[in-house]
Amino acid sequence: MLVAETIGEIRRNVRQARTEGKTMGLVPTMGALHAGHASLVEVARARCDHVVVSIFVNPTQFGPGEDLEKYPRPLEKDLELCRAHGVAAVFAPTPAEMYPREKLTWVTVEKLTTPLCGRSRPGHFRGVTTVCAKLFNIVGPDVAFFGQKDAQQAVVIRRMVADLNLPLEIVICPTVREPDGLAVSSRNQYLNPQQRRDAAIIYQSLEKCRTLVEAGARDADEIRAQMQATLAQVPALEAEYVEIVDAETLRPVDPLAGKVLVAIAAHLGATRLIDNISLDIR
Ligand code: PAJ
Repeated sequence: MLVAETIGEIRRNVRQARTEGKTMGLVPTMGALHAGHASLVEVARARCDHVVVSIFVNPTQFGPGEDLEKYPRPLEKDLELCRAHGVAAVFAPTPAEMYPREKLTWVTVEKLTTPLCGRSRPGHFRGVTTVCAKLFNIVGPDVAFFGQKDAQQAVVIRRMVADLNLPLEIVICPTVREPDGLAVSSRNQYLNPQQRRDAAIIYQSLEKCRTLVEAGARDADEIRAQMQATLAQVPALEAEYVEIVDAETLRPVDPLAGKVLVAIAAHLGATRLIDNISLDIR
């Protein structure tokens, strides 16, 4: 497995694989790799001959006061996971390699980036789309793989690729969960044991919504109120949003109909967690 720190090295690796007629898959990550990332790599390996994982804690998607400095960076462990899952090459650049000069050029997706996480994280998605556009241009994959865990990110990336005619396919993979339902996340390691137990309420609140919908509920405000009540069982948890939106436009839907995204962002102490489920309501 090649570990490339420079754009030149990863480009040479990919060019060589291309001359061998291989198809190319990219799994963009910020490292601290876990079972969620591993599932993306597995899907990528099933689809593509040559899988590249990028590991880059992208400074442009963190706001002031967020966890850029404390974000975990266990590179050796990450490389082990990649080797164990048959990754062909890891691209792990430094910030200076990715952003060598004052940044003047950005890729911005409008409208889809303002609701949900966009409200509390202005500039976040601009950083995500810009770094992903750069990674797509550096690696040139046929397919890039993202997780449903970050549902808004997935919608935004898909739209960027469609609007800019970027020559790759985006595949979204299901959310990997812990046995108690908590979505696996690099940020779960910030939680103390009590917070870790409390965090399971987020998935229970999403499941509450699923149960209500299966029983025939369609009124968004009523469903959201019940989801909020579930979350309130953990007083230490502070809900940032509980939203039911159209899965494509991310605009609120009421009454529930068609493909909807049910999404929660919540704080436990200093840790911000997000999760979602999608429902197809006929
Ligand atoms: P990161 O949080 O490291 O996530 C990398 C990819 O793994 C994302 O597509 C994310 O949705 C997916 N993922 C995370 N947890 C998952 C889980 N439990 N189940 C399935 N997939 C999961 O998302 C980012 O990094 C960055 O924003 C990035 C796209 C790399 C741009 O910097």
